[in-house]
Amino acid sequence: MTSEAIVVLDFGSQYSQLIVRRLREIGVYSELLPYHVAAEQALALQPRGIVLSGGPASVYAPGAPQLPPWVIDSGLPVLGICYGMQAIAHALGGAVEPSSAREFGPAEITVEQADSPLFAALAPQQRVWMSHGDKLTRLPAGFRAIAHSANSPYAAMGDDARRWYGLQFHPEVAHTPQGREIIRNFAYRICGCRGGWTPGAIVEESVARIRAQVGAGRVICGLSGGVDSAVAAALIGRAVGEQLTCIFVDTGLLRLGEAEQVITTFRNHLRLPLIAVNAAEEFLSALQGVSDPEQKRKIIGETFIRIFEREAEALGEVEFLAQGTLYPDVIESTAADRNVAAKIKTHHNVGGLPERMRLKLVEPLRYLFKDEVRAVGLELGLPEDWVWRHPFPGPGLAVRILGPVTHARAETLRRADAIFLEELRRAGLEREVQQAFAVLLPVQSVGVMGDYRTYADVVALRAVTTEDFMTADWARLPADVLQRAANRIVNEVPGVNRVVYDITSKPPATIEWE
Ligand code: XMP
Repeated sequence: MTSEAIVVLDFGSQYSQLIVRRLREIGVYSELLPYHVAAEQALALQPRGIVLSGGPASVYAPGAPQLPPWVIDSGLPVLGICYGMQAIAHALGGAVEPSSAREFGPAEITVEQADSPLFAALAPQQRVWMSHGDKLTRLPAGFRAIAHSANSPYAAMGDDARRWYGLQFHPEVAHTPQGREIIRNFAYRICGCRGGWTPGAIVEESVARIRAQVGAGRVICGLSGGVDSAVAAALIGRAVGEQLTCIFVDTGLLRLGEAEQVITTFRNHLRLPLIAVNAAEEFLSALQGVSDPEQKRKIIGETFIRIFEREAEALGEVEFLAQGTLYPDVIESTAADRNVAAKIKTHHNVGGLPERMRLKLVEPLRYLFKDEVRAVGLELGLPEDWVWRHPFPGPGLAVRILGPVTHARAETLRRADAIFLEELRRAGLEREVQQAFAVLLPVQSVGVMGDYRTYADVVALRAVTTEDFMTADWARLPADVLQRAANRIVNEVPGVNRVVYDITSKPPATIEWE
């Protein structure tokens, strides 16, 4: 994607993606490729250097992943991390053995060679994060020890003439405080990168790429109200202007004011052609009497596709469909030994559309991480509060209204949800949590208002902190914020007399209630 890249070869570490993210954060484009990738594919990126990730194997075990010979032949600078370092040693005549003391967690290293470019301008004593069983016991020819820890005589090694380095610890994790600087030293001092990977450059390259793919074809893009589809649309709009038509389906299951916000932002602010379809009635009648969560998702998915197809057909000849696929999804779907996870929920998206409509996909975010998508959104002029939106599930409020979905119940939930989010925003906590919302429960409880007994709905509030939405913890919100939200909800939302706060983590619960 850019003339200045560093390739990360994945040997199966849980931290591999983090290495790529760290490089991008310091302005160097990077891609994660499987260790057995074809040399031509990796070299097509014209890399300035190669990083070998960690991995769970032992280099001398039969069938263990080995250093590809093309890496040796490339003449490029190499940084091996943990297993990557052991793979270097194994390939170049060093020795690796099982360690009697396995090292997991924090360790202290001492840098012996202060002149090593890898540790330039860094402290001689550093805390690092170790996670290994095997260790290097003999350096390959040409290498010298750069640093040691109590357990690892070769915590870092290097061959300055060849520009090859190895680290026994993980510089990519936050528990190695100077790790970012070590990675920066490798990229800038050793590989000679200059750091051109900025939001402006991402926009420029994406625009060129979209133009090359789309030519004079017409593109449609479904807007969900979320960040990804909005940024994808804005990028395509920047690239091919009027060839793009955005379609926004108001399912009647969106949050308070959301439909208006999408329409205003896209039509007036970004000036992109937008077809807005009010399909609330169609969705609600399709969902009538349905309580089962999977059934709700299925109905919503099908209804969505039907409406989308109808609108697209009315447009005439369309060749491309835009999708907001992100780089972590791409990595996940191409990972060699990905675990096939048990199906917990069928996440509804427009997945079935391209084949049915014989459309080609345009995926302008395919090589971007979420933080890069946000930066690009700001660069393209999307409002700040949009760019920092919490994710919202495709089936919308339908999976937050437990039991049957009706217009009245959607209205109740919308109002409660808006109050909760408003109070979070007011307390400056919206960005401290990754997702926050209200859920309308299918139970009534007894209350007392004035001198009257009430028997009314219960609203649950949910706020979570999470890195990847695969696991999550409940947010420790201040009691006064919760109290203000609860108080306002029972006072301002008719039909609600009780508010509870969800204090389960994921697992064993999920983030959504359905
Ligand atoms: P769970 O509830 O599975 O949610 O812990 C993880 C993340 O996924 C979102 N989510 C969905 N997103 N379609 C979507 O597009 C869906 O059907 C769906 N279900 C859950 C959820 O909001 C959270 O961010």
